[in-house]
Amino acid sequence: AYQIEGGWNEDGKGESNWDHFTHYHKNKIKTHENGDVACDFYHRYESDIELMHKMHIPASRFSIGWSRVLPQGIGQINQKGIDFYNKVIDKSLKEGVTPWVTCYHWDIPQALEAKGGWTNRDVIKWFEEFVEVCALKFGDRVKNWMVFNEPMSFTLAGYMLGIHAPGGAISFDKFYASTHHVVMSHGAGGRIIREHVKNANVGTTFSCIPIDGWKDKPANLEAAKRVDVMANRLFIEPVLGMGYPLHDLPALKHIEKYIHAGDEEKMKFDFDFIGLQNYTRWVVKNLGLVPMVHAINIKPSKMGHDLTEMGWEVYPEGMYRIIKQFAAYPGVKKIYLTENGVAFKDELVNGEINDVKRIQYLKDYLQQVLKAKRGGINIGGYFIWSFLDNFEWAEGYRPKLGIVAVDYKTQQRTIKASGKWFSDFLKG
Ligand code: BGC
Repeated sequence: AYQIEGGWNEDGKGESNWDHFTHYHKNKIKTHENGDVACDFYHRYESDIELMHKMHIPASRFSIGWSRVLPQGIGQINQKGIDFYNKVIDKSLKEGVTPWVTCYHWDIPQALEAKGGWTNRDVIKWFEEFVEVCALKFGDRVKNWMVFNEPMSFTLAGYMLGIHAPGGAISFDKFYASTHHVVMSHGAGGRIIREHVKNANVGTTFSCIPIDGWKDKPANLEAAKRVDVMANRLFIEPVLGMGYPLHDLPALKHIEKYIHAGDEEKMKFDFDFIGLQNYTRWVVKNLGLVPMVHAINIKPSKMGHDLTEMGWEVYPEGMYRIIKQFAAYPGVKKIYLTENGVAFKDELVNGEINDVKRIQYLKDYLQQVLKAKRGGINIGGYFIWSFLDNFEWAEGYRPKLGIVAVDYKTQQRTIKASGKWFSDFLKG
């Protein structure tokens, strides 16, 4: 929602934490930009969905802006916000593009953020109310649901590091509190969707990243295991009913002060599928000075790797490794790759963007998905991130991950060579 919609205060939409953050903490966004207009999807959804159809894209994943449907987060419903998503859903179905809805992609209403947002235990009730509205209003037509988008990203970047909304000083306590409440909300949200949506396919998505130890040194391999807990295991394991991986990362014991009697049972939810989102890998080194994980990432540039505009290493084998790692959990029944893609510098020459590096990246990563599928892992599908270039959070609009370019001055869309390639690929 926030990355593409724009229309930030139109038709009764309330302020979200990202509206607030980008307006009042401009310096935290590298380019001082915001999502006020973004890709203007709020006004251009019809032609964008028609373009998806033209490109043979069979499914589109998008999120619901919480403050568009519930401006204050709870209470009064904004009918115009509901109307907007109804129009998006109906248009998608009409064009043969199946809607895959994520309830929460990082934009909590500011009215709730002001009360502590995800650090406040009441958020579980607030979130239940929001998910119930989504399920009741859209569940007659939307069957594929994801409760969260990448819980680790917004708890870590938002509440611990303060580089994403809501910002603020570094805080471990806020991280532990928000983590537990988000874990609890996975179960809560999943149960509501299952209760209200007939034949729902309910999942949730996780960021995931293979972790290696620098030069395979024993201390670094141990460091890699600790970072793996943070990056890959912390959210999924309690949701699968395995509890928090406290044993393998003792610093996590601080989370216990937020756990109430009976929580362990409620954290569990039997998801129909798990969405995995992978872009790169990390190589880490043991470093006692770093709190919690006692490790640091080696900069990919130091290792001489090919880098993306996000500064990330291109590492296709990581896709296979991470699918294998998550598929090994007995509770994971089916996997969708709900995000994968890349930002490279795009050049518009004579009206064309010949992004050959992106095509190669997508082919190489897809090859690894195919390898996992052929190896017997139950993989349901793959979503590119992203259809359109969009607002890349603290990075602003500079990194472009779309297979369709957006000229933000004119809002003109240009299908990149990668978009044409993907379209041919989808045609079979
Ligand atoms: C997020 C997206 C983001 C993408 C590229 C994922 O972490 O879900 O919102 O644009 O990665 O950074």
